[in-house]
Amino acid sequence: MDKNTSNRGQWASNIGFILAAAGSAVGLGNIWKFPYLAGANGGGAFVVIYLVMIVIIGFVIMLGEMAIGRNTHLSSVGAYKKLSEKWAFVGFIGVVVGFCILAFYSVIGGWVLNYIGKYLIGGISGAEAGNYFSGFIASTTQPIVWHLVFMVLCCVIVLKGIAGGIEKASKFMMPALFILLVIIAIRSVTLDGAMEGIKFFLKPDFSKVTIGTVMAALGQAFFSLSLGMGAIITYGSYLGKTENLEKNAIIIPAIDTAVALLAGFAVLPAVFAFGFEPGAGPSLMFITLPSVFDSMPFGQFFGILFFILVLFAALTSAISLLEVVVAFVIDTFKIERKKTTIIISTILFFIGIPCSLANGPVMKDVLIFGYNFFDFMSFLAENLLMPLGGLLMCIFIGYVWGVDNISDEISCNGKYRFRSKPFFVIMIKYIAPVLIFIIWLNAIGVLPYIFKIFGITL
Ligand code: PHE
Repeated sequence: MDKNTSNRGQWASNIGFILAAAGSAVGLGNIWKFPYLAGANGGGAFVVIYLVMIVIIGFVIMLGEMAIGRNTHLSSVGAYKKLSEKWAFVGFIGVVVGFCILAFYSVIGGWVLNYIGKYLIGGISGAEAGNYFSGFIASTTQPIVWHLVFMVLCCVIVLKGIAGGIEKASKFMMPALFILLVIIAIRSVTLDGAMEGIKFFLKPDFSKVTIGTVMAALGQAFFSLSLGMGAIITYGSYLGKTENLEKNAIIIPAIDTAVALLAGFAVLPAVFAFGFEPGAGPSLMFITLPSVFDSMPFGQFFGILFFILVLFAALTSAISLLEVVVAFVIDTFKIERKKTTIIISTILFFIGIPCSLANGPVMKDVLIFGYNFFDFMSFLAENLLMPLGGLLMCIFIGYVWGVDNISDEISCNGKYRFRSKPFFVIMIKYIAPVLIFIIWLNAIGVLPYIFKIFGITL
């Protein structure tokens, strides 16, 4: 172990790293977004396109981020800075994204905690699920208190450090999440009428595939794999010099994709079996599913399992977001971990407050570029900054740090054969930057105009 790593902490094992990175990847994006996106965008056709995106973009960027982190043993800002002074700002984008996502992610984490509490004391009646949810998130203090509890949980894990905190927590929560998900998926696909949901999820409908579908798949791949914001750079910085990065960059996206597919089997068949319409985002998880549980025998029991599963998914993602910011402060200002984590968590708690209030009367009319504060944070991070971070990383690796340097890192100076090198080089230099640039143009609203010039309609 070199001097750098021993001061900053290190994963106790490679499997610990894999579970922590998979924990970062597997989150709300897998459970509330993927099943619906797939269903609404052509079912199996979308799934195939999504898989292609994971293979050509997800794998390459994940590998690139791991290599940058491991090579420098520094979190995102320090890592870019060490490799090239002028590029430190790319790392900084990651820190900003960490703040933005965690602020609203933690508010949602608080909602999940509240639902676990609700199910433990009896559950939610189907008829009232909609009113209950809108009333709860619009109230002023309750969601903030739960957001505080969620933030404290993250803080406690992260302040215990890499092996003793993040790795230990992920080693417990990830397998537990997987088991709970399998139980719920089996229950869901064995319900009468489950077939409708499976058809919605997987039946290929190529007539629904447009350029917009490809972009939705790419955007989802980015968010779901936690790419473009330094989380994987930061986690990679705690890796030992002898681990096989190429293998890790295959396993982690594979776990994330498996969980996304399983989530589709857990959620959609049950929704259809009881005659509900699926939707995306909060309403699917907090309104439709409680109605489904209410119609189901032993619904309270499945409700508890489901929300605990979601809590584990959200927590393991949230700690990686917090770690991006904490590691940046530790590396830059050399402040001790405990103190840093408490200070950053406190700041994040306060940034989360307007996110929470944006759902209620207090701040619902405060709009930034037409978005309330909650949606603005999510738009800024997911649609603008993450693809930008990924795009700049490709350019940085392809043209500044250089593919030879990175392949030495990936192969551990020849210890492993870097089998996918030719593929990696073509992707990182040419294909990935172009594709990401296109989604980015779309996100900032420019793409439709460009298409119009060429006479293409979306
Ligand atoms: N990947 C997480 C999800 O799917 C979100 C996330 C993004 C976590 C970026 C960390 C960093 O919910």
